Amino acid sequence: MGQVLTTINMKGGVGKTTLTVNLGTCLARDYNQRVLIVDLDSQISGTLSLISPHDFSRIRKGRRTLNYLIDKIIRPYIQRKYFTEDMILKNVCNLEGLDLLPGDIELYDEYIFAETLYKKGIAEESKFSEVWGYFEESLIKKILMPVVDKYDFILLDCAPGYNLLTRSGIVASNYYLLPARPEPLSLVGIQLLERRIEKLKKKYNPPLNVDLLGISFILSGGLFSSRYYNQVMQRIEEDFESKKIFNTRIPMDVNIAKAVDSFTPAVLQTPNSAGSKAFKKLTQEFVEKLNVHI
Ligand SMILES: Nc1ncnc2c1ncn2[C@@H]1O[C@H](COP(=O)(O)OP(=O)(O)O)[C@@H](O)[C@H]1O
Ligand SMILES: [Mg+2]
Repeated sequence: MGQVLTTINMKGGVGKTTLTVNLGTCLARDYNQRVLIVDLDSQISGTLSLISPHDFSRIRKGRRTLNYLIDKIIRPYIQRKYFTEDMILKNVCNLEGLDLLPGDIELYDEYIFAETLYKKGIAEESKFSEVWGYFEESLIKKILMPVVDKYDFILLDCAPGYNLLTRSGIVASNYYLLPARPEPLSLVGIQLLERRIEKLKKKYNPPLNVDLLGISFILSGGLFSSRYYNQVMQRIEEDFESKKIFNTRIPMDVNIAKAVDSFTPAVLQTPNSAGSKAFKKLTQEFVEKLNVHI
């Protein structure tokens, strides 16, 4: 059975997608792992980091995106011929072992979703909260179930915020990763997120078994050696056990931002850049943290 990990932070632009695609790529390339990246963000940054907009538009026209699978669960009364496997793009970026379940710019139609919840609630005479809870618990689990034993790692790239897909992704996960910037407000954000996840875990009986694997920090060059940075890091280390923090810091590196232009993660496009080297090191730490003997 594959390990399922969610990359989350309620903030946008903190490097969730960049971490997901570069970590996934390093696991496939350097450790021969079978990796599936699932794009749960309707901004489709993860998808467009791995395939071209042209390919995406072709796939979307054929309705071969995550949207199809979500709709299949929300509206099970409609006959469908495709399964999770049919949506997966194999060996993206010509890399053996790196697969993608592409996201969609319309991940679920809120109107249809609310209407389905309402109808289901009436038909089953159940409370709205129960029907809602059913989707939260089962949506991503059901999508991944047919493929989970085909992968070593399934990485879920979430949207900012804390929407239904994110929560459903957490429910389906063994661990979550938290990319962040070392700033006081970011620290507040992490604490808020941790509280929400604790609440989510306790909603279930037995409580969910999902843990923070690690917080990874991106930082710009000047910040590294500053007193301010050290103060912030000290506060973070007081709040979190040090084993919950990745030692490897991801530097700001223009090669990482530019990699998106070639629909290829930086670790493949510019493997010798400072950013790529950091991701390679972070992957090593990731493997050690999981204590996976590869
Ligand atoms: N280490 C880095 N160096 C330079 N640019 C980065 C780095 N990490 C992320 N970026 C850029 O910052 C932007 C936001 O990153 P992204 O991973 O998409 O964040 P999120 O998924 O949290 O919204 C993107 O344009 C990305 O290319
Ligand atoms: Mg993103």
